[in-house]
Amino acid sequence: MAIERTFSIIKPDAVERNLIGDILKMITEAGLKIKGMRMIHMSKEQAEGFYAVHKERPFFGELVEYMTSGPVVVSCLEGENAIENYRKLMGATNPEQAEEGTIRARFGQNIQNNSCHGSDAPDTARNEVAFFFNEDELVG
Ligand code: CDP
Ligand code: MG
Repeated sequence: MAIERTFSIIKPDAVERNLIGDILKMITEAGLKIKGMRMIHMSKEQAEGFYAVHKERPFFGELVEYMTSGPVVVSCLEGENAIENYRKLMGATNPEQAEEGTIRARFGQNIQNNSCHGSDAPDTARNEVAFFFNEDELVG
């Protein structure tokens, strides 16, 4: 299995409830290494660009409002099979359907405020990492 990179966001609902440490602990205990990390407050343009794939979806406007409602922690994670491993660690989009012990089952509030984001495939992972990080920042 190859070493991969993936992109993570600790979303505003989790930052607001002081859960950054709990979520990073789950990430590192899962064997994912933090290559780069930053706390930011996304602009509307950034959130719209990041979630452009969802722009026709009925929840797009509320999603952008939510993602810009407070600070988030963006990071680039690296490890064996990192994309799929981090998706498994997050759990299903809807916290009610997320497997026990996952980030979303433990901390997610509802299908929107679900505490974390993770890339879903190698091409999106590459694009999402590049959306927020320059290659020379990824030194961890
Ligand atoms: O984040 P994930 O890849 O699991 O789900 P997605 O289908 O790519 O949706 C992106 C994000 O939009 C979700 O994580 C939710 O925050 C939000 N969403 C929502 O507000 N309402 C939905 N019905 C579906 C997703
Ligand atoms: Mg997605």
